[in-house]
Amino acid sequence: MGSPASRLLAWYDVHRRVLPWRVPAGKRADPYQVWLSEIMLQQTTVQAVAGYYRKFLERWPTVEALAVAPLDDVLAAWAGLGYYARARNLHKAAQVVASELGGKFPQSHDGLRALPGIGDYTAGAIAAIAFDLPYAAMDANAERVVARLFAIREPLAKVKTRLRGLGQSLVPGTRAGDFAQAMMDLGSAICPPKKPACMGCPLFEDCQARKLGIQEQLPIKGEKALRPLKRGAAFVARDADGAVLLVRRPESGLLGGMQQPPLGPWAEDFPSRDEAMAQAPFKADWKKRLGIVRHGFTHFELEIEVYETVVAKHPEAEGRWVRDLANAALPTVMKKIVGDDTVL
Ligand code: ADE
Repeated sequence: MGSPASRLLAWYDVHRRVLPWRVPAGKRADPYQVWLSEIMLQQTTVQAVAGYYRKFLERWPTVEALAVAPLDDVLAAWAGLGYYARARNLHKAAQVVASELGGKFPQSHDGLRALPGIGDYTAGAIAAIAFDLPYAAMDANAERVVARLFAIREPLAKVKTRLRGLGQSLVPGTRAGDFAQAMMDLGSAICPPKKPACMGCPLFEDCQARKLGIQEQLPIKGEKALRPLKRGAAFVARDADGAVLLVRRPESGLLGGMQQPPLGPWAEDFPSRDEAMAQAPFKADWKKRLGIVRHGFTHFELEIEVYETVVAKHPEAEGRWVRDLANAALPTVMKKIVGDDTVL
Protein backbone atom coordinates (compact mmCIF):
# COMPACT_ATOMS: atom_id res chain seq x y z
CA MET A 1 0.00 0.00 0.00
CA GLY A 2 0.99 3.64 -0.08
CA SER A 3 2.27 5.56 -3.06
CA PRO A 4 5.53 5.15 -4.99
CA ALA A 5 6.55 8.51 -3.49
CA SER A 6 6.08 7.24 0.06
CA ARG A 7 8.16 4.14 -0.70
CA LEU A 8 10.86 6.27 -2.30
CA LEU A 9 10.92 8.69 0.66
CA ALA A 10 11.18 5.82 3.17
CA TRP A 11 14.14 4.48 1.20
CA TYR A 12 15.68 7.98 1.07
CA ASP A 13 15.41 8.35 4.84
CA VAL A 14 17.75 5.38 5.19
CA HIS A 15 19.98 5.66 2.11
CA ARG A 16 20.28 9.38 1.39
CA ARG A 17 23.76 10.42 0.30
CA VAL A 18 25.70 12.92 2.35
CA LEU A 19 26.57 15.72 -0.09
CA PRO A 20 28.24 19.07 0.61
CA TRP A 21 25.11 21.06 -0.36
CA ARG A 22 22.65 18.84 1.47
CA VAL A 23 21.32 19.88 4.86
CA PRO A 24 20.50 17.34 7.57
CA ALA A 25 17.08 15.65 7.43
CA GLY A 26 14.22 17.97 8.31
CA LYS A 27 16.24 21.19 7.81
CA ARG A 28 15.42 23.72 5.09
CA ALA A 29 18.39 24.54 2.83
CA ASP A 30 19.68 28.05 2.10
CA PRO A 31 18.34 29.04 -1.37
CA TYR A 32 21.70 30.58 -2.33
CA GLN A 33 23.46 27.29 -1.61
CA VAL A 34 20.80 25.26 -3.42
CA TRP A 35 20.99 27.52 -6.45
CA LEU A 36 24.82 27.49 -6.54
CA SER A 37 24.94 23.70 -6.33
CA GLU A 38 22.22 23.19 -8.94
CA ILE A 39 23.95 25.46 -11.45
CA MET A 40 27.24 23.61 -10.89
CA LEU A 41 25.49 20.23 -11.18
CA GLN A 42 24.05 21.04 -14.61
CA GLN A 43 25.90 18.68 -17.00
CA THR A 44 28.47 17.91 -14.30
CA THR A 45 28.90 15.03 -11.86
CA VAL A 46 28.51 15.24 -8.09
CA GLN A 47 32.14 14.19 -7.74
CA ALA A 48 33.47 16.94 -9.99
CA VAL A 49 31.29 19.61 -8.34
CA ALA A 50 32.01 18.98 -4.64
CA GLY A 51 35.39 20.74 -4.47
CA TYR A 52 34.26 23.70 -6.58
CA TYR A 53 31.13 24.10 -4.48
CA ARG A 54 33.13 24.30 -1.24
CA LYS A 55 35.63 26.71 -2.77
CA PHE A 56 32.89 29.04 -4.06
CA LEU A 57 31.00 29.03 -0.81
CA GLU A 58 34.10 29.78 1.19
CA ARG A 59 35.07 32.64 -1.09
CA TRP A 60 31.56 34.01 -1.74
CA PRO A 61 29.37 32.93 1.18
CA THR A 62 26.38 35.04 0.14
CA VAL A 63 24.68 36.06 -3.08
CA GLU A 64 25.68 39.67 -2.33
CA ALA A 65 29.35 38.68 -2.11
CA LEU A 66 29.16 36.83 -5.42
CA ALA A 67 27.34 39.75 -7.07
CA VAL A 68 30.17 42.21 -6.34
CA ALA A 69 32.98 39.82 -7.32
CA PRO A 70 34.78 40.68 -10.58
CA LEU A 71 33.57 38.38 -13.40
CA ASP A 72 37.15 37.33 -14.15
CA ASP A 73 37.56 36.04 -10.58
CA VAL A 74 34.38 33.98 -10.95
CA LEU A 75 35.54 32.60 -14.32
CA ALA A 76 38.97 31.73 -12.86
CA ALA A 77 37.34 29.92 -9.92
CA TRP A 78 35.07 28.08 -12.39
CA ALA A 79 37.99 27.00 -14.61
CA GLY A 80 37.90 23.23 -15.15
CA LEU A 81 34.16 22.81 -14.50
CA GLY A 82 33.22 23.37 -18.15
CA TYR A 83 30.20 24.98 -19.81
CA TYR A 84 31.43 28.45 -18.96
CA ALA A 85 28.20 30.21 -19.92
CA ARG A 86 27.03 28.86 -16.56
CA ALA A 87 29.60 30.96 -14.73
CA ARG A 88 28.69 34.12 -16.64
CA ASN A 89 24.99 33.52 -15.99
CA LEU A 90 25.70 32.69 -12.35
CA HIS A 91 27.33 36.07 -11.94
CA LYS A 92 24.51 37.86 -13.77
CA ALA A 93 21.83 36.10 -11.74
CA ALA A 94 23.64 36.95 -8.49
CA GLN A 95 23.58 40.62 -9.50
CA VAL A 96 19.85 40.46 -10.28
CA VAL A 97 19.04 38.80 -6.96
CA ALA A 98 21.33 41.09 -4.94
CA SER A 99 20.36 44.38 -6.51
CA GLU A 100 16.81 43.92 -7.83
CA LEU A 101 15.36 41.35 -5.46
CA GLY A 102 16.84 42.50 -2.15
CA GLY A 103 19.10 39.47 -1.91
CA LYS A 104 16.18 37.02 -1.85
CA PHE A 105 15.72 34.28 -4.42
CA PRO A 106 12.23 34.16 -5.96
CA GLN A 107 10.01 31.66 -4.19
CA SER A 108 8.20 30.48 -7.31
CA HIS A 109 9.02 28.33 -10.30
CA ASP A 110 8.33 31.18 -12.74
CA GLY A 111 10.36 33.67 -10.73
CA LEU A 112 13.33 31.32 -10.60
CA ARG A 113 12.95 30.44 -14.28
CA ALA A 114 13.29 34.13 -15.17
CA LEU A 115 16.84 34.32 -13.75
CA PRO A 116 19.79 33.90 -16.14
CA GLY A 117 21.01 30.30 -16.37
CA ILE A 118 17.89 28.71 -14.89
CA GLY A 119 15.87 26.44 -17.17
CA ASP A 120 12.85 24.30 -16.41
CA TYR A 121 14.77 21.54 -14.71
CA THR A 122 16.83 23.81 -12.48
CA ALA A 123 13.82 25.95 -11.56
CA GLY A 124 12.01 22.77 -10.50
CA ALA A 125 14.98 21.51 -8.52
CA ILE A 126 15.48 24.80 -6.65
CA ALA A 127 11.74 25.32 -6.06
CA ALA A 128 11.50 21.83 -4.59
CA ILE A 129 14.77 21.67 -2.62
CA ALA A 130 14.90 25.25 -1.32
CA PHE A 131 11.18 25.97 -0.86
CA ASP A 132 9.50 22.52 -0.82
CA LEU A 133 7.23 23.56 -3.67
CA PRO A 134 5.68 20.52 -5.40
CA TYR A 135 7.85 20.36 -8.53
CA ALA A 136 9.65 17.43 -10.10
CA ALA A 137 13.28 17.95 -11.08
CA MET A 138 13.34 16.10 -14.37
CA ASP A 139 16.94 15.70 -15.40
CA ALA A 140 18.35 12.74 -17.35
CA ASN A 141 18.38 10.59 -14.21
CA ALA A 142 14.77 11.27 -13.36
CA GLU A 143 13.78 10.74 -17.00
CA ARG A 144 15.41 7.33 -16.93
CA VAL A 145 13.70 6.34 -13.68
CA VAL A 146 10.29 7.48 -14.95
CA ALA A 147 10.76 5.87 -18.39
CA ARG A 148 11.44 2.57 -16.62
CA LEU A 149 8.72 2.96 -14.04
CA PHE A 150 6.09 3.43 -16.74
CA ALA A 151 7.86 1.28 -19.39
CA ILE A 152 7.93 4.10 -21.94
CA ARG A 153 9.24 2.50 -25.11
CA GLU A 154 9.47 5.43 -27.49
CA PRO A 155 12.71 7.35 -28.19
CA LEU A 156 13.55 9.78 -25.42
CA ALA A 157 13.52 12.82 -27.71
CA LYS A 158 9.84 12.16 -28.54
CA VAL A 159 8.56 11.62 -25.00
CA LYS A 160 10.26 14.32 -22.94
CA THR A 161 7.02 16.21 -22.27
CA ARG A 162 5.20 13.02 -21.40
CA LEU A 163 7.97 11.94 -19.02
CA ARG A 164 7.86 15.33 -17.34
CA GLY A 165 4.09 14.97 -16.83
CA LEU A 166 4.49 11.47 -15.43
CA GLY A 167 7.33 12.59 -13.16
CA GLN A 168 5.26 15.51 -11.95
CA SER A 169 2.34 13.18 -11.21
CA LEU A 170 4.50 11.31 -8.70
CA VAL A 171 5.49 14.38 -6.65
CA PRO A 172 4.01 14.21 -3.14
CA GLY A 173 2.21 17.16 -1.53
CA THR A 174 4.80 17.35 1.23
CA ARG A 175 8.57 16.76 1.18
CA ALA A 176 8.86 17.70 -2.50
CA GLY A 177 12.50 18.64 -1.92
CA ASP A 178 13.34 15.26 -0.44
CA PHE A 179 11.42 13.59 -3.23
CA ALA A 180 13.46 15.40 -5.90
CA GLN A 181 16.71 14.45 -4.18
CA ALA A 182 15.50 10.89 -3.60
CA MET A 183 14.94 10.55 -7.36
CA MET A 184 18.50 11.76 -7.91
CA ASP A 185 19.91 9.26 -5.42
CA LEU A 186 17.81 6.45 -6.82
CA GLY A 187 18.96 7.23 -10.36
CA SER A 188 22.56 7.23 -9.23
CA ALA A 189 22.69 4.33 -6.75
CA ILE A 190 19.95 1.91 -7.86
CA CYS A 191 18.79 2.86 -11.34
CA PRO A 192 21.86 3.81 -13.42
CA PRO A 193 21.83 3.38 -17.22
CA LYS A 194 23.58 -0.01 -17.03
CA LYS A 195 22.90 -2.88 -14.62
CA PRO A 196 20.17 -1.39 -12.44
CA ALA A 197 20.13 -2.94 -8.95
CA CYS A 198 16.42 -3.78 -9.00
CA MET A 199 16.60 -6.11 -5.99
CA GLY A 200 17.38 -3.13 -3.77
CA CYS A 201 14.88 -0.78 -5.38
CA PRO A 202 12.02 0.68 -3.31
CA LEU A 203 9.97 0.85 -6.55
CA PHE A 204 10.53 -2.81 -7.43
CA GLU A 205 6.80 -3.58 -7.38
CA ASP A 206 5.87 -0.37 -9.19
CA CYS A 207 8.32 -0.70 -12.07
CA GLN A 208 6.63 -1.74 -15.31
CA ALA A 209 9.92 -2.13 -17.19
CA ARG A 210 11.24 -4.47 -14.50
CA LYS A 211 8.08 -6.58 -14.77
CA LEU A 212 8.66 -6.84 -18.53
CA GLY A 213 12.39 -7.49 -18.06
CA ILE A 214 13.30 -4.56 -20.28
CA GLN A 215 14.60 -2.13 -17.64
CA GLU A 216 18.14 -2.09 -18.97
CA GLN A 217 16.96 -1.26 -22.50
CA LEU A 218 15.13 1.87 -21.38
CA PRO A 219 15.05 4.71 -22.05
CA ILE A 220 15.40 4.32 -25.80
CA LYS A 221 17.94 6.80 -27.03
CA GLY A 222 17.74 8.23 -30.53
CA GLU A 223 20.67 7.97 -32.88
CA LYS A 224 23.38 10.28 -31.73
CA ALA A 225 24.54 12.71 -34.39
CA LEU A 226 28.23 12.36 -35.16
CA ARG A 227 30.21 15.26 -33.82
CA PRO A 228 32.17 17.13 -36.46
CA LEU A 229 35.93 17.40 -36.09
CA LYS A 230 37.66 20.78 -36.03
CA ARG A 231 41.39 21.31 -36.13
CA GLY A 232 43.75 24.17 -35.51
CA ALA A 233 47.05 25.37 -34.08
CA ALA A 234 47.90 26.89 -30.69
CA PHE A 235 50.95 28.92 -29.75
CA VAL A 236 52.48 28.41 -26.33
CA ALA A 237 55.17 30.98 -25.64
CA ARG A 238 57.13 30.89 -22.39
CA ASP A 239 59.53 33.46 -20.99
CA ALA A 240 62.61 32.73 -18.89
CA ASP A 241 60.46 32.71 -15.70
CA GLY A 242 58.06 30.16 -17.14
CA ALA A 243 55.26 32.70 -17.64
CA VAL A 244 52.99 31.87 -20.59
CA LEU A 245 51.41 34.36 -23.01
CA LEU A 246 47.61 34.23 -22.60
CA VAL A 247 44.81 36.10 -24.33
CA ARG A 248 41.18 36.49 -23.24
CA ARG A 249 38.48 34.95 -25.42
CA PRO A 250 35.57 37.17 -26.50
CA GLU A 251 32.92 37.55 -23.80
CA SER A 252 30.23 35.70 -25.76
CA GLY A 253 30.33 32.29 -27.40
CA LEU A 254 32.29 29.14 -26.64
CA LEU A 255 34.47 29.45 -23.50
CA GLY A 256 33.49 33.14 -23.42
CA GLY A 257 35.72 35.36 -21.28
CA MET A 258 38.14 32.53 -20.49
CA GLN A 259 41.91 32.65 -21.01
CA GLN A 260 43.88 30.75 -23.66
CA PRO A 261 47.25 30.77 -25.40
CA PRO A 262 46.90 32.44 -28.82
CA LEU A 263 45.03 30.09 -31.18
CA GLY A 264 44.56 30.11 -34.92
CA PRO A 265 41.15 29.58 -36.54
CA TRP A 266 39.61 26.10 -36.49
CA ALA A 267 39.07 24.34 -39.80
CA GLU A 268 38.65 20.89 -41.31
CA ASP A 269 42.38 20.29 -41.29
CA PHE A 270 45.46 21.49 -39.42
CA PRO A 271 47.21 24.49 -40.94
CA SER A 272 50.45 23.75 -42.77
CA ARG A 273 53.61 25.00 -41.08
CA ASP A 274 53.59 28.14 -43.29
CA GLU A 275 49.94 28.81 -42.52
CA ALA A 276 50.56 28.28 -38.81
CA MET A 277 53.50 30.69 -38.84
CA ALA A 278 51.23 33.32 -40.37
CA GLN A 279 48.79 32.75 -37.48
CA ALA A 280 51.44 32.94 -34.73
CA PRO A 281 51.22 35.95 -32.38
CA PHE A 282 54.82 36.97 -33.17
CA LYS A 283 57.79 35.75 -35.19
CA ALA A 284 59.96 33.25 -33.32
CA ASP A 285 61.53 29.83 -33.55
CA TRP A 286 58.25 27.93 -33.07
CA LYS A 287 58.67 24.16 -32.58
CA LYS A 288 55.75 21.82 -33.05
CA ARG A 289 55.15 19.66 -29.98
CA LEU A 290 55.02 15.91 -30.50
CA GLY A 291 51.45 14.64 -30.32
CA ILE A 292 48.21 16.59 -30.48
CA VAL A 293 45.70 17.78 -27.91
CA ARG A 294 42.19 16.37 -28.24
CA HIS A 295 39.11 17.68 -26.51
CA GLY A 296 35.44 16.82 -26.85
CA PHE A 297 32.92 19.67 -26.74
CA THR A 298 29.18 19.09 -26.78
CA HIS A 299 28.80 19.75 -30.49
CA PHE A 300 32.23 19.01 -31.92
CA GLU A 301 35.62 17.40 -31.35
CA LEU A 302 38.68 19.58 -31.35
CA GLU A 303 42.24 18.59 -32.27
CA ILE A 304 45.04 21.06 -31.77
CA GLU A 305 48.67 21.04 -32.84
CA VAL A 306 50.76 23.00 -30.38
CA TYR A 307 53.65 25.22 -31.42
CA GLU A 308 56.02 26.18 -28.63
CA THR A 309 58.77 28.70 -28.11
CA VAL A 310 60.81 30.23 -25.31
CA VAL A 311 61.60 33.95 -25.49
CA ALA A 312 64.40 35.86 -23.79
CA LYS A 313 62.31 39.04 -23.61
CA HIS A 314 58.65 39.77 -24.18
CA PRO A 315 57.98 40.54 -27.83
CA GLU A 316 55.25 42.90 -29.02
CA ALA A 317 52.08 40.81 -28.72
CA GLU A 318 48.51 41.07 -27.53
CA GLY A 319 47.82 39.39 -24.17
CA ARG A 320 49.38 38.96 -20.74
CA TRP A 321 52.34 36.87 -19.55
CA VAL A 322 50.94 34.71 -16.77
CA ARG A 323 53.02 32.76 -14.27
CA ASP A 324 50.32 31.69 -11.84
CA LEU A 325 48.63 29.31 -14.25
CA ALA A 326 46.90 27.40 -11.46
CA ASN A 327 44.75 30.45 -10.68
CA ALA A 328 44.19 31.62 -14.25
CA ALA A 329 40.79 31.23 -15.94
CA LEU A 330 42.05 28.38 -18.10
CA PRO A 331 39.45 25.86 -19.24
CA THR A 332 40.52 22.21 -19.26
CA VAL A 333 41.24 22.15 -22.99
CA MET A 334 43.55 25.16 -22.62
CA LYS A 335 45.32 23.55 -19.65
CA LYS A 336 45.98 20.55 -21.89
CA ILE A 337 47.38 22.89 -24.54
CA VAL A 338 49.64 24.74 -22.10
CA GLY A 339 50.85 21.66 -20.28
CA ASP A 340 52.34 18.44 -21.56
CA ASP A 341 49.02 16.68 -21.26
CA THR A 342 49.04 15.53 -24.86
CA VAL A 343 47.22 12.57 -26.29
CA LEU A 344 48.60 10.10 -28.91
N1 ADE B 1 22.15 16.54 -9.67
C1 ADE B 1 21.52 17.70 -9.84
N2 ADE B 1 21.18 18.24 -8.66
C2 ADE B 1 21.61 17.38 -7.70
C3 ADE B 1 21.56 17.36 -6.29
N3 ADE B 1 21.00 18.36 -5.63
N4 ADE B 1 22.10 16.31 -5.66
C4 ADE B 1 22.67 15.32 -6.35
N5 ADE B 1 22.76 15.28 -7.67
C5 ADE B 1 22.24 16.30 -8.36
